[in-house]
Amino acid sequence: MHFSLISLFPEAFNALLENGVIAGAYKKGLFQVSHHNPRDFVTSNYKSVDDEPYGGGDGMVMSYEPLKSAIAAAKAQNPRAKIVYLSPAGSPWSAKQAETYAKQKQDLILIAGRYAGIDQRIVHQYVDEEISIGDYVVSGGELPAMILMDSILRHLPGVLGNLHSAKQDSFQAKLLEAPSFTRPEHTEGLSVPKTLLSGHHGKISQWRMSLQLLLTMQRRPDLLRPEQLSLEQQKLCKVFWQSTPEKERKLLGLEERFPWQES
Ligand SMILES: C[S@@+](CC[C@H](N)C(=O)[O-])C[C@H]1O[C@@H](n2cnc3c(N)ncnc32)[C@H](O)[C@@H]1O
Repeated sequence: MHFSLISLFPEAFNALLENGVIAGAYKKGLFQVSHHNPRDFVTSNYKSVDDEPYGGGDGMVMSYEPLKSAIAAAKAQNPRAKIVYLSPAGSPWSAKQAETYAKQKQDLILIAGRYAGIDQRIVHQYVDEEISIGDYVVSGGELPAMILMDSILRHLPGVLGNLHSAKQDSFQAKLLEAPSFTRPEHTEGLSVPKTLLSGHHGKISQWRMSLQLLLTMQRRPDLLRPEQLSLEQQKLCKVFWQSTPEKERKLLGLEERFPWQES
C-alpha cells in the first residue's frame, strides 16, 4: 500500500512512522509513504500557502494552486490512489472501512488541511472522499490522517504479530473489547478474574463474549440494544451476571444495572 501525504507539516507523521508496530511495518517495507508539501509548489514571491477567506471570516484558507500541484505530484507517483480529504464535514470513519481499505490494498492520497481548511474548489475538483474522525475539530489534518493510516495498517498481514489480534479489537463485530489483565495475579486487593486463570479456552471465550455484549449494551446502546440479542446470547449474559460477584463486575467496568432491567 502506498500513502501519499499532502501536508504542510510532513515531520508530524514521524509520530506514527517512528514508533511501535507501524514503525516496524514501515521498516519492513509493508507499506510506502511519500510526502508532497504544498509549500514546495508555491509560485508567488511571498511563499504563501494560504490566503484570507472571501466574504470575510476567521482564519486563513489553504490556497488552490499549491494544493493542486501537490495533488498532481502525488497522483503522478501513485496513479491508482483514491484522494481523501480529512475534514470535520466528512463521513465518519469506521472500523469496517479501515478493514475494507486494507483488504483492497487501497492506495491513498491523504490531504491534511490546516488553518480554517482548504479552498472548496479542491474538494469539488479532486477529492474522491471526505472523511471525518469524529464530531470535534482538531488543528490540522495530520492527526486524522495518521488515525486512518494506523487503523488500516493494523489489518495488513505482517503488521501485527498476529493478524487475529486486529479481528479481536473493539468494534470489529460492532462490540467493545473485553478488558485485559496481566501479571501480577493480585495487586492492591484487586485480583484477576478466576475464569481467565482457568486455562479453559471455551470458558474464557464465553466469558469474554458475555462481557463484550454487556459492556456494549451499557456503554454503546447505539451499537447494541438488549432486544437485538439472540436467545443464546441473552442466556450467556444472564448466567454471567448471576455468577459474577458485584466486586468483580465493578472491576470489569460494568455498571450496576442489568441491561434488561431497563427495557
Ligand atoms: C482547524 S481545522 C478546520 C476546521 C473548519 N474550520 C471547520 O470548522 O470545519 C483544520 C484542518 O484539520 C482537519 N480536521 C479537523 N478536525 C477534523 C476531523 N474531525 N476529522 C478530520 N479532519 C479534521 C481538516 O483537515 C481541517 O482542514
